Amino acid sequence: MIIAIDGPAGAGKSTIAKLLAQKLGFLYIDTGAMYRALALKAIESGIDIKDAVSVVKMAAASDVDLVNNPGGGALEVFLDGRDVSQEIRQPRVSRVVSDVAKIKEVRQILVKLQRRLGSQKDSVLDGRDIGTIVFPGADKKFYIDAQFDERVMRRYKELTGLGQAVTLEEVKNDLCNRDTIDSTREHSPLKRADDAIYIDTTKMTIDEEVETLLQWIKR
Ligand code: CDP
Repeated sequence: MIIAIDGPAGAGKSTIAKLLAQKLGFLYIDTGAMYRALALKAIESGIDIKDAVSVVKMAAASDVDLVNNPGGGALEVFLDGRDVSQEIRQPRVSRVVSDVAKIKEVRQILVKLQRRLGSQKDSVLDGRDIGTIVFPGADKKFYIDAQFDERVMRRYKELTGLGQAVTLEEVKNDLCNRDTIDSTREHSPLKRADDAIYIDTTKMTIDEEVETLLQWIKR
């Protein structure tokens, strides 16, 4: 069974997807983490993000892997065998990830990996193009949304909770910038699949969100 969760930045997709996967005993595939891992590698390798040829070459020679902890703990993200779970959340990665993710060949490489992982086991995937491109035949599709100011606030609390020194203004700019690039890019833009269930989580608690999705899944 495949559950697809798409939506804009900071809508809480990862939180819900992870909890849902835990409750159902499914694999959790954070596709955004994969794009973030490649963006981190480009930064560390000093590759110009605008140089698509070099970014694609780098992506093709990279090993990105996701490891679900059996106890349902945090998801670990590995880049060429190194645990980069923390680093990929840094603002320097968020700033460039959408420019990496808009490159067609980078998407082809990661989509292939996402399909391979998802075909091995019942999975919950979250991202931007899961219901439209990665698994258009998913058993259940959700589009998770929330008002912009609420998304900014949630992300701000999440990052400051991780000890990052970010301002509200920076978080606002990051989400606004990524939403624009993600939804206007040429290849696989963020878009609600016609058959995706739309859920506005602005006024919902995390428990309510998970419960709502579970109800839809059981139907
Ligand atoms: O910050 P947030 O958790 O909302 O984003 P993310 O899921 O970590 O994804 C980071 C970035 O990766 C997005 O802004 C997109 O540019 C890109 N992405 C994508 O293009 N396609 C996906 N399936 C997942 C993420």
